Amino acid sequence: MYSGRALQSSRAVARGMRGFSSGQSLHSQQEAVRRVTVIGGGQMGSGIAQVAAAHKHEVTLVDVNSEALKRGQAYMVKSLKRVAKKKHSDDEAAQSRFVDEIMGRVTVSTQLQDAVGRADLVVEAVVEKLQVKQELFARVSEAAPGTAILASNTSSLPIGKIAEGLEEGQRRRMVGLHFFNPVPQMKLVEVVRTEEADAQVVERAVAFVRAIGKEPAVCKDTPGFIVNRLLLPYMMEAVRLLERDVASPRDIDTAMKLGAGYPMGPFELCDYVGLDTIKYIVDGWHKDGAGLKGNPLFAPSAKLDELVKSGRLGVKTGKGFYDY
Ligand code: 3HC
Repeated sequence: MYSGRALQSSRAVARGMRGFSSGQSLHSQQEAVRRVTVIGGGQMGSGIAQVAAAHKHEVTLVDVNSEALKRGQAYMVKSLKRVAKKKHSDDEAAQSRFVDEIMGRVTVSTQLQDAVGRADLVVEAVVEKLQVKQELFARVSEAAPGTAILASNTSSLPIGKIAEGLEEGQRRRMVGLHFFNPVPQMKLVEVVRTEEADAQVVERAVAFVRAIGKEPAVCKDTPGFIVNRLLLPYMMEAVRLLERDVASPRDIDTAMKLGAGYPMGPFELCDYVGLDTIKYIVDGWHKDGAGLKGNPLFAPSAKLDELVKSGRLGVKTGKGFYDY
C-alpha cells in the first residue's frame, strides 16, 4: 500500500537502529496504521485528527472537556471547508460531501480508556506539562492494544522522560510525532526516536506520516528536535534585536520575508505560535534542557517576559508584538 520510495526510505531510517525485539508478532508490528486516537481537542489535536481522517483513517478525538471537543470539530470543519472550496470551486454540493465524508470518519469521546481500546496509534496533544503527559500515558498504555504505537506531539519535552514510568515493552512503542501549525497545511512531521524505541515501531510511524500526506524527518530525542532547536534561537535573536533597538518588528519581519524568503517574519511567527508557548519552551531549556542548561541562546528576555505578563500572548489574545 505504500510506494516503493516510502518503504525504501523508511527501511533506510530503520537501519542502524535497534532490531525488532518486543513480544508482539512481527506481523502486527508491521501492519499499517488504520485506527488513530488523538488525545487533546485543541488546535494541534484537531488538526492531526483532521489530516488522519482526510487520509482515510478511522479517528477518535478525545478530550476530558466536551466543549473543547466541540471547538475541535468546528476547527476541523472550518479548515476542511477551506480545502473543499479549492478542490470543488464551483460545486457547493461536492464541497459539503467532501467535508461530511471526512468528518464521518471522526468520532469524539470524553472516555479515554474506551477511545484507545482499538487504536493502532495513539497521539497525545495535550498541555505541555510533563506530569500530565506521564500520567496520561500510564492510563493509555493500560487500555491500548499491546501493538499500538504511543506518540507524543510535544514540542519541547523529552519523549524518553514522558515514557519514563512505562514498562519496557511500552517504552519501545513510544515515539515523538511532532506536527506543525497549521497542521493541515504544514508538510513536515518530525518522528522522534528515543534510545529505546523499536526500529519496527519507528518504521511504522514513518509509514503513517507518509500515508497522511506528510514528509517525515527522523531525529534523536534531543531538546527541540530539529525545527524548534533552530527556530527558537532565531525567534529569540529577533527579540534581542528589538531590545537593542536595531529595527522595528515590522522592519525585521519585512527583512526576513523579503531578504530570506520566509513566509512569516519572526515577530509574526512568535505571535502565531504564542508568546507564552515560546517563553515556556526557552525558560524550560535554559533551566533544565539536556545540554542546553544556561545556554545564552535561550536566556530570558525582558521584552518577552513583559509581553507575557501583560497578557499579550499573540494572535490568540488579539495582541502580541502586533495588535490583531
Ligand atoms: N487549514 C487548511 N488550509 C490552510 C490552513 C488551515 N488551517 N491554514 C492555511 N491554509 C492554506 C490556505 O488555504 C492556502 O492554501 P493555497 O495556497 O492552496 O490557497 C495556504 O494555506 C496559504 O494560506 P493563506 O493564503 O491564507 O495565508 P499565507 O499564504 O499567509 O499562509 C501560513 C499562511 C501557511 C500560516 C504561512 O504564513 C506559513 O507557512 N507560515 C509559517 C508557519 C510556521 O512556521 N509554522 C510552524 C510554527 S512552529 C510550530 O508549529 C512548532 C511548535 O512546536 C511551536
